Amino acid sequence: DWNMPDYIAEAVQKIREQVGDEEVILGLSGGVDSSVAAALIHRAIGDQLTCVFVDHGLLRLNEGKMVMEMFAGRLHAKVVHVDASAQFMGHLKGVTDPEQKRKIIGREFVEVFQAEARKLPNAKWLAQGTIYPDVIESGGAKNKKAQTIKSHHNVGGLPETLGLKLLEPLRDLFKDEVRELGVALGLPHDMVYRHPFPGPGLGVRILGEVRQDFADLLRRADAIFIDELRAADWYDKTSQAFAVFLPVKSVGVMGDGRTYEYVVALRAVQTQDFMTAHWAELPHSLLGKVSNRIINEVRGINRVVYDISGKPPATIEWE
Ligand code: XMP
Repeated sequence: DWNMPDYIAEAVQKIREQVGDEEVILGLSGGVDSSVAAALIHRAIGDQLTCVFVDHGLLRLNEGKMVMEMFAGRLHAKVVHVDASAQFMGHLKGVTDPEQKRKIIGREFVEVFQAEARKLPNAKWLAQGTIYPDVIESGGAKNKKAQTIKSHHNVGGLPETLGLKLLEPLRDLFKDEVRELGVALGLPHDMVYRHPFPGPGLGVRILGEVRQDFADLLRRADAIFIDELRAADWYDKTSQAFAVFLPVKSVGVMGDGRTYEYVVALRAVQTQDFMTAHWAELPHSLLGKVSNRIINEVRGINRVVYDISGKPPATIEWE
């Protein structure tokens, strides 16, 4: 057991000693680890920290706005918000292979981040939200997808390319501890206890080619699903839950007309380690409500299905 106020005071002291009067940049992703790292470093050195938030256009509904409100608004941290969605969308045009999409998103992410970092020539440090499990795993990733996760997540090679020293204040912490720290630093509970979200974001939840109109539909469907899970007290009972966009059209009826529109799949799993997972046995009434709301509120989607595949043999994500 640890004493949080003491821990924060020590961590802050350590960061101040390490950094001195030099400047630090940090890539904010909206995820738990980078958010907590940012809040801690900001507590330690205030305006010597500049956060760079690269929005690839594949975030969830209002996510970019929430990140800005939290860090720029409430914490008064320096945040550069880079809206790179057009650039990402452009590079993804016509690309359907999942690993190819991951590669493109990872590469663009590094490029955009580097370009921003070069605009801050005084920065001497690159801060990252690396946590203890990342440190252990980085010895050897178990599969291709895991390798991609690492290379994207920790923007591999960046400190060297940019000639920056690495600042990783969460290196000794487990996920639970990072969450407790986040709450103690004033981050909202819902942000800190969020389900994990993959680096490539909706890019791997829109099957096949990523299109802006598909992303817009998916964001709205996904937000309805998550809203209803929270309202029914099921969010915390699932490890990860999200909607997947299927670029397939099926026939429906609405009023006296026939519709021919897209399909959304709902995925909700329970797992300890994300290596194996069970599909969540959500109440039928909850599923029914989510389906009705999506079909009624998101014009362009006329069918909702629930994924009842375990991992293995299926993966949690569809790509
Ligand atoms: P799968 O689909 O392999 O997912 O069962 C296991 C966990 O990993 C996440 N995931 C990713 N995270 N970049 C990430 O940062 C990725 O490319 C990626 N692919 C999968 C997935 O969301 C789940 O939590």
